[in-house]
Amino acid sequence: MSNLATERVLSVHHWNENLFSFRTTRDRGLRFENGQFVMIGLETESRPLIRAYSIASPNYEEHLEFFSIKVPDGPLTSRLQHLQPGDPIVVSRKPTGTLVLRDLRPGRNLYLLSTGTGLAPFMSVIQDPETYERFEKVVLLHGVRWTSELAYSEFIEKTLPAHEFLGDVVREQLVYYPTVTREPFRNTGRITEVIPSGKLFADTGLPVIDPAVDRAMICGSPAMLDDCCKMLDTLGFEISPRIGETGDYVIERAFVEK
Ligand code: A2P
Repeated sequence: MSNLATERVLSVHHWNENLFSFRTTRDRGLRFENGQFVMIGLETESRPLIRAYSIASPNYEEHLEFFSIKVPDGPLTSRLQHLQPGDPIVVSRKPTGTLVLRDLRPGRNLYLLSTGTGLAPFMSVIQDPETYERFEKVVLLHGVRWTSELAYSEFIEKTLPAHEFLGDVVREQLVYYPTVTREPFRNTGRITEVIPSGKLFADTGLPVIDPAVDRAMICGSPAMLDDCCKMLDTLGFEISPRIGETGDYVIERAFVEK
């Protein structure tokens, strides 16, 4: 059996000129853990052009959802952005990744730190009932340059709290903290500023982050990852060294250059 399945695009949503998301059909045999990624791509004249993409949909949905940047001369995203419903897309049969709940030690509050399309795996994690069983508060930070990049904000703020099954726990436990760095917004400043300065805790009323009880997942650009790791290390957090070993936090490389 080939390692790649051919799925079909179900719908495409353009958030702004740089960001879009799309849904595809899902092979019945594809199992994954929320937070994981798969290789996806397009068949070209020569060979399939594929890249790693976090799955933004939770693992109980029948479809798969992906969130992507549009890189004008990116070999894959320059083509992906023109996808239309019905178009074929290849999806690998082997999801993997480090942003999984089981590699986090038990704890009080879970911090999901993301910038840009690094939000994608956390869209899956915040729709997983187990996330709310394991943690008291789930604090989702999404750092972007411009407000137009706050993809999924309406879904997080309106749709999910009204969800038939998850609504109650989401209203009680999910704290969404979007922050914008290059124009005025209700929250401003990089993630690496609002945590050390205490602004996040002053704004939300949450207790100050504490490595003894709190846990984190990070997904963003390489520079953002480095800086967030340094911030958490300085605070006394221990990283999960590899898949299958627990830590106070886990990280994933964002899938930015496509
Ligand atoms: P800033 O506007 O100050 O550069 P990008 O599109 O470059 O990935 O940035 C997305 C968001 O992440 C922006 O708000 C940006 O802030 C922020 N950011 C960029 N680099 C870092 C970093 N090293 N640590 C934390 N946040 C970062």
